[in-house]
Amino acid sequence: MPIERKVIAPEAIEAQREICAKIFERVAGDGQRPLAMVDTYGCQQNEADSEKIRGYLSEMGYGFTQDEFQADVIVVNTCAVREHAEMRVLGNVGALNHTKKARPGQIIAVCGCMVQQEHMAEKLKRSYPIVDLVFGPHELWRFPELLNQVMEKHKRVFATAKEEAVAEGIPLRRDGQVKAWLSIMYGCNNFCTYCIVPYVRGRERSRRPEDVVAEARALVAAGYKDITLLGQNVNSYGKDLDCGVDFADLIREINAIPGDFLIRFMTSHPRDATEKLFKTMAECEKCAHHIHLPVQSGSDRVLKRMNRHYDRAKYLEEIETARRYMPDLVITTDIIVGFPDETEEDFQATLSLCEEVRFDAMFTFIYSKRVGTPAATMPDPYTRQEKQLHFDQLTDLANRISGEKHREYEGKTLRVLVDGETGREEYNLSSRTNGGRLVHLKGDKSLIGRFVNVKITASNTWALYGEIVG
Ligand code: 5AD
Ligand code: SF4
Repeated sequence: MPIERKVIAPEAIEAQREICAKIFERVAGDGQRPLAMVDTYGCQQNEADSEKIRGYLSEMGYGFTQDEFQADVIVVNTCAVREHAEMRVLGNVGALNHTKKARPGQIIAVCGCMVQQEHMAEKLKRSYPIVDLVFGPHELWRFPELLNQVMEKHKRVFATAKEEAVAEGIPLRRDGQVKAWLSIMYGCNNFCTYCIVPYVRGRERSRRPEDVVAEARALVAAGYKDITLLGQNVNSYGKDLDCGVDFADLIREINAIPGDFLIRFMTSHPRDATEKLFKTMAECEKCAHHIHLPVQSGSDRVLKRMNRHYDRAKYLEEIETARRYMPDLVITTDIIVGFPDETEEDFQATLSLCEEVRFDAMFTFIYSKRVGTPAATMPDPYTRQEKQLHFDQLTDLANRISGEKHREYEGKTLRVLVDGETGREEYNLSSRTNGGRLVHLKGDKSLIGRFVNVKITASNTWALYGEIVG
């Protein structure tokens, strides 16, 4: 399928930044600092999009607040992957009625994956008159223009065009100075039958390797120590570019940037994870030994109906290959329980696969019907209660295995990156191992952003605890 891909001209982004300057004069020109609140739901990709929204807002002169009663502009960046997230968004947007009454003139914007679905944009238009601006992921690059229309014309603006593009040069405002998200591609081509993402985020579009590497270089120069390359399916990076650089090559190029930092990435699709990738991970000293490899189910029958393009045997073989290259590899996964018509036997196959792989951490979800996806029309005789029982069983197993794997770290000394404070007295700092496991420590907060060696003294299901050594 040829890719309808548009690259936003640099002049068009420049024009957006000029609108930011214009808004700045209007809202912040007299020395007063207006405030904005950006509320983010969902995945890391959404976090990365919110950094762009905050980047634009910063250029408009806005400071940031977490208090909706203080905010002149509120942006709610939404997720559509499960119904639960959508319900939370709608509940929270509805509650903004109070703040808007208390603060006339407040502008409320709702963006992200949820509003890219027609029925949701319609619902916001009809039932949420407090919402002034709605824009989908494809319109993010022209957020300043859209916001300006609301400000100047005092009318509601709805922008949910489907045209997919890649935009470079949008200003970013990152939270923190240790870890950074770096989007390397957008969209997904896989059409797993349960998933809404390809419908709301469009087809796979890779950023050019030179743009990605330049951004990574700038992050390292700015002192970031932990860079996570983001995409819905990073293993197919570059396929749409025809430039001869695949994902493994990209890792190698970033690894060559001088400096002491870690390269992480997510998410990998088992269909496209190659031996070349595992070999590259093992050979590149800056690449973390962690892979998030969502298996979704351990049953071949379910995997087929999910349109995942691999079976249990291929998945297990990949894990074996990966562990051959990196015996210390941390492996995490996503699993959906209660896919339409998932039988007891199918579920048992998932449990046995988890026992076999022994994932370091598992993110488990109960299947959520998404309008417009093929799975939404598949017959399903099982009740929510039955699914909940399976979900609880799987969670118990996940917790047991995580706890056991964490115990294996006790007594070992590991290099960790200190990334923040916990707010607790006894273990006041948090850090991550190379494989991404959480370690609580005691130490001075000047260590944030530094690599230290830690002896692991205790553990539980969720975290490790350690003492700094050397
Ligand atoms: N229902 C439940 N979980 C889902 N996921 C994606 N779509 C759905 C859905 N309709 C899960 C998958 C994916 C993760 C990000 O969310 O496990 O890997
Ligand atoms: Fe959704 Fe599948 Fe694409 Fe992941 S790979 S975003 S689960 S369609």
